Amino acid sequence: MPVIEKIARYSDELVAIRRDLHEHPELGMQEVRTSGIVADLLREWDIETHTGIGNTGVVGVLNGRSPGRTIGLRADMDALPIDEKTNLAFASKTPGVMHACGHDAHTTMLLGAARYLAQSRDFNGTAIFIFQPAEEGLGGARAMLADGLFERFPCDEIYGMHNNPNGAPGRVGVKPGVAMAGADFFDIHIRASGSHAAMPHQSVDPIVIGSSLVAQLQTIVSRNVPPTEPLVLSVTQIHAGSAYNVIPSDCTLSGTMRYFEPKVADMVRKRISALCDGVAESYGIEVEIDSRNIFDVLVNNEDLSQIMLDVAADVVGKDNVAVTSNVVTGSEDFADMLRVIPGAYCTVGHGGTLPLHNDGFVLDESILPIGASIYAKLIEQRAAAG
Ligand code: NI
Repeated sequence: MPVIEKIARYSDELVAIRRDLHEHPELGMQEVRTSGIVADLLREWDIETHTGIGNTGVVGVLNGRSPGRTIGLRADMDALPIDEKTNLAFASKTPGVMHACGHDAHTTMLLGAARYLAQSRDFNGTAIFIFQPAEEGLGGARAMLADGLFERFPCDEIYGMHNNPNGAPGRVGVKPGVAMAGADFFDIHIRASGSHAAMPHQSVDPIVIGSSLVAQLQTIVSRNVPPTEPLVLSVTQIHAGSAYNVIPSDCTLSGTMRYFEPKVADMVRKRISALCDGVAESYGIEVEIDSRNIFDVLVNNEDLSQIMLDVAADVVGKDNVAVTSNVVTGSEDFADMLRVIPGAYCTVGHGGTLPLHNDGFVLDESILPIGASIYAKLIEQRAAAG
């Protein structure tokens, strides 16, 4: 695979950076050490560096030899609240926190591209390197946008990528158009009335009510959402009670909705609300919904999807790039940036076999120079284009 020769030459250093980040993972909005390392390296390579954008976000600006277009490249830096079980020599030294989604590698790949571009300067136009905090549901992209990311650093196009552990090293895929789900997180607080468990008639039991509400919520997908429309509504947590002989007063149901069509999502939110109101009315209790939209639907620009695949083909070969046809019910907050600036988001396959977010997830490091080369070629080819 023709990764950029100069990047291949320092792939050992990329491995060292990635292992250091892996050993010291930080949760979203707490990426102080990580963003410090990123900023130090960018400055070392004479890249104009801006810190503290969206809390711990970092932006690097690099001008090529002559003016052209401005292309943004984005990587995420945060880890997950997972206790690592890989037994790697460089496994997480922070109990309960792990780079189980490979964002350590994403950050490293973007650093690899930045270093190469800074040293070669063999491009026209401007590269914007965006290192984003808190991708894992804590709103890092929105925080950077609220901090004026694209007003301060206007981009003509933006690109991002994610590693894909599927045993197919170097296979690059892009789904043009609607690609990944939008997501809400919700908590439903049922405030009823507890009693001695031996005298249930003195209670209004929130566990019985909550259990029936879970079943009622299932009817939204089966009976309100058109069968041709993909939608997920999952209750993932039930919290109530703390004793064998006490009926508690409160029960909280929490979960997530994943959608591709905002109109359908609105209908589902209304149905959740109606079912909760009905339960509150019929039992004479309070049911309160706290629902937040966390991720937008990720929409890849159709033309730029193909362009990203063409650029990737220069690195991994034509036979290893493909338009993917299936939408993914997972979410990704690069979606928020893609709503503002046209661009595309690809997956890059590697030899890891355990899924993302698994406590045994091991990333195949051969992906590092591949991702860095794709990022670098995007700048070389797109910043001069048009
Ligand atoms: Ni991820």
